[in-house]
Amino acid sequence: MKRIGVLTSGGDSQGMNAAVYATVRYAVDHGLEVYGIDLGYKGLIEGKVRKLSVTDVDDVIHRGGTILRTARCDEMKTQEGQRKAVQTLKDNGIDGLVVIGGDGSFNGAKALSTGFGVQTMGIPGTIDNDLAYTDFTLGFDTAVNVVMNTIKMLRDTMSCNDRSCIVEVMGRNCGDIALYAGITSAAEMILVPEIPFTVQQVVDRIKNNLDHGKMDNIIVLAEGAGKAEDLRAEVKKAIPGINIRSMTVGHLQRGGDASFQDRLLGVRMAAHAVQCLLDGKTNRVVGVRHNVIIDEDIVEALSERKSFNKELYALADQLVETF
Ligand code: ADP
Ligand code: F6P
Repeated sequence: MKRIGVLTSGGDSQGMNAAVYATVRYAVDHGLEVYGIDLGYKGLIEGKVRKLSVTDVDDVIHRGGTILRTARCDEMKTQEGQRKAVQTLKDNGIDGLVVIGGDGSFNGAKALSTGFGVQTMGIPGTIDNDLAYTDFTLGFDTAVNVVMNTIKMLRDTMSCNDRSCIVEVMGRNCGDIALYAGITSAAEMILVPEIPFTVQQVVDRIKNNLDHGKMDNIIVLAEGAGKAEDLRAEVKKAIPGINIRSMTVGHLQRGGDASFQDRLLGVRMAAHAVQCLLDGKTNRVVGVRHNVIIDEDIVEALSERKSFNKELYALADQLVETF
């Protein structure tokens, strides 16, 4: 292998730049040339490819977003799109491809490897932490910190106004951002798609808290479990006297400097991915389990179902129910 490509795809996440940085540095250090593909699969299909030098990745390790930019590209889901993507790789003499993204992006890599024999390696970059085969994905830690800091600031004003708030966070169908940010913010309730709940349970929890003098109730709601404003309206209907607001943290969760955890994970995962390409161990995805960097077959990894940490959820619930 002489020349590899690297792209970022799908929702950007903090730590992607750390992974791009380490991909370039580690590959060049091992005698490879690295080509950056702009705008994910869209750029691959359109031939937006440029050689990256080590200086191109100076001063990017910390930055949120992605210097390679990102896109969602439906054409990549078609045979024709995939054929064009493969042609770009051939035209530029690229023998191996590092794909940094979430499960959608990994499906693109799977199509290229199983359908066209492209040698791929995946690095999990998504704030959602919704991939089963890895304990953590790049961006998750930073996004949770953003939510934690948001709730901390929110509590300042909510508590002095005896006001409650429904806080909606991202995560698609995965409740991990809500769970980890909720437990570390001592949220009064955490609502996730993995654990069914009724509005009545939310109302009962808040009522009980109000009866015990706890007036600033922060309810963290994963986007996969509902909309903050809808839930606020239902709670208000059930408890007319309550002072309650709603907020959506939104894309702030994808911004800001990557945390130390995400930088370190990005660097370790990228070096591992390039080493796999060098060793001819390809069509795999890199992950972390019990703080050890691992790799797994891409088809197997994508077939696994993510499990939710019910013990942690139960602990969060237990801690805030106590008076
Ligand atoms: P993420 O990678 O963050 O999960 P998406 O689900 O939006 O984000 O997927 C990113 C991109 O990956 C899509 O826009 C598309 O280009 C590509 N992709 C997704 N699913 C497939 C698929 N089944 N086959 C080929 N490419 C896919
Ligand atoms: O997958 C990352 C993510 O931020 C999800 O948490 C969220 O549902 C989605 O992307 C938002 O997508 P967009 O940036 O296209 O609005």
